[in-house]
Amino acid sequence: MTDDQQQPKHRGAPHGGARESGARHNGTQDSGDQYAGPRYTGEGRLPGDLAPEALIERMVRVNHAGEYGARRIYEGQLAILGRSKSGPAIRHMYEQEREHLETFERIIAERRVRPTALQPLWHIAGFALGASTALLGEKAAMACTVAVEEVIDEHYAKQAAQLGEEESALRETIERFRAEELEHRDTGLAHGAEETPGYEPLSAAIKAGSRLAIWLSERF
Ligand SMILES: [Fe+2]
Ligand SMILES: [Fe+2]
Repeated sequence: MTDDQQQPKHRGAPHGGARESGARHNGTQDSGDQYAGPRYTGEGRLPGDLAPEALIERMVRVNHAGEYGARRIYEGQLAILGRSKSGPAIRHMYEQEREHLETFERIIAERRVRPTALQPLWHIAGFALGASTALLGEKAAMACTVAVEEVIDEHYAKQAAQLGEEESALRETIERFRAEELEHRDTGLAHGAEETPGYEPLSAAIKAGSRLAIWLSERF
């Protein structure tokens, strides 16, 4: 995907909002600048869209929930496959998920965002997803990783494209984590995820579940 394609649609809204500082702009509006994001969070939003504060709160809540769920998935996988030949690869991904979660634990506290009420559900569902796919075998565990990480990649890309320059630190964190989630997907593919019997329906089911979990954690 090119930078151009990642640009959020401006949907016809006029520019020049009160929050625009212009300090880091070079005067070329909506042309092919290097920086692909909006100038401020919520730029181009329509009546009925979330206000920037609510949008960011929702992002922080869902990312905290998602990284918590990810840690639980890998814990479930490690419970079954910790001593298998995939063990070290799974443990490496698990360590990165722990760092992602610790970062969002800090951010959710700093910004005083309410965590999702569904955390007890993700505690159980995450572990169950990781362990149950691991019980089907190493390749099925990796198929689970690929499916989840593909959904997270889309999710983080969408968020990064909505964050303006005043939220560049959060955007950079999200982009860094997104790159690691893509490494996890590649690890899964390298470990034969797609050779799992029933890969397509398994992947589709896990993706649907992950998208539902995102939708719920943004709101509850
Ligand atoms: Fe993560
Ligand atoms: Fe991940």
